[in-house]
Amino acid sequence: MYVSGRSHQNLSGKLASQNVLFCDGVSGLRLDLSEPLPLTNVIFYKPNLGKMGTVIITGANGSLAIPAVDYLLSRYPSYTAILTIRDNSNKDANTTRLQSIIAKYPNAQVSVRKLDLARLSDVNAFAGTLHSEIAEKKLPPLAAIICNAFTWDMTPPIKYTEDGFERAMGVNHIAQLNLTLRLLGDFDPQHGRIVFLSSESHWAGKAGFEVYPPTLPNDLNLLVKPNPDKAGEEAGRGFQRYGLSKLAVVMTMYELNRRLKKVRRIHRP
Ligand SMILES: NC(=O)c1ccc[n+]([C@@H]2O[C@H](COP(=O)([O-])OP(=O)(O)OC[C@H]3O[C@@H](n4cnc5c(N)ncnc54)[C@H](OP(=O)(O)O)[C@@H]3O)[C@@H](O)[C@H]2O)c1
Repeated sequence: MYVSGRSHQNLSGKLASQNVLFCDGVSGLRLDLSEPLPLTNVIFYKPNLGKMGTVIITGANGSLAIPAVDYLLSRYPSYTAILTIRDNSNKDANTTRLQSIIAKYPNAQVSVRKLDLARLSDVNAFAGTLHSEIAEKKLPPLAAIICNAFTWDMTPPIKYTEDGFERAMGVNHIAQLNLTLRLLGDFDPQHGRIVFLSSESHWAGKAGFEVYPPTLPNDLNLLVKPNPDKAGEEAGRGFQRYGLSKLAVVMTMYELNRRLKKVRRIHRP
């Protein structure tokens, strides 16, 4: 299984719509992991064509996800796509757009499901349902989880998830790591990929919106329960919190990769 993180540079423009998630290339989907890859690498791989598997994409009605869904359904019709969104009503223009993409592929195996990552009970229930469906062979084992959804808040007050975590950290990192860990045992034992989407915001000095660099505080609790922003600092601090959530995502990628290298087969606890 590979765990990969991707920076925005690798997801922009043509690359995002055509090559991001399912690239023909060299590394393949394998359980034995290579060395952690540098963040700026575009990771090329070639799933076994004709192979079946379930691919989860969070935030599937987002601007990068929609072309990725289009690409997945057009190039890999044997895969089953589980696409998570928050608002499945036709009042959401992005959901309507996603549905219009799906409609191009009447034979595709696609399930669009509601999932609010700002509520861990939702995430746990979603993971539990998926686990049951895979166990009952209603869905093929997981081939990939693409943790694409994100949020940021640049206006006061600081927002929190239902579980009381600062919202960017809660949604971008905690919820999607929670989802991934809960589903590790549901991957195909031979093949699999976890994709975390990061951003240049995690790297001090790179992002145009950066006012305060994404520096880890001595008290790590501040990452989930930050101090109130000083007047006038709200936008900069909001972007800093986004950057910190993406820093947590990147650090997690390396750590999870390191740990998964040591296991040949993952058993559910
Ligand atoms: N586009 C860029 O310039 C850029 C740059 C750097 C990194 N990235 C990264 O690339 C990824 C995709 O970015 P994007 O530009 O495509 O984002 P986007 O268009 O804003 O889409 C974000 C997706 O996340 C979903 N989402 C937000 N809050 C959620 C929650 N609480 N629970 C579940 N889903 C939630 C959104 O659903 P709703 O519509 O319901 O809110 C939407 O589907 C993100 O991880 C982002 O950090 C993007």
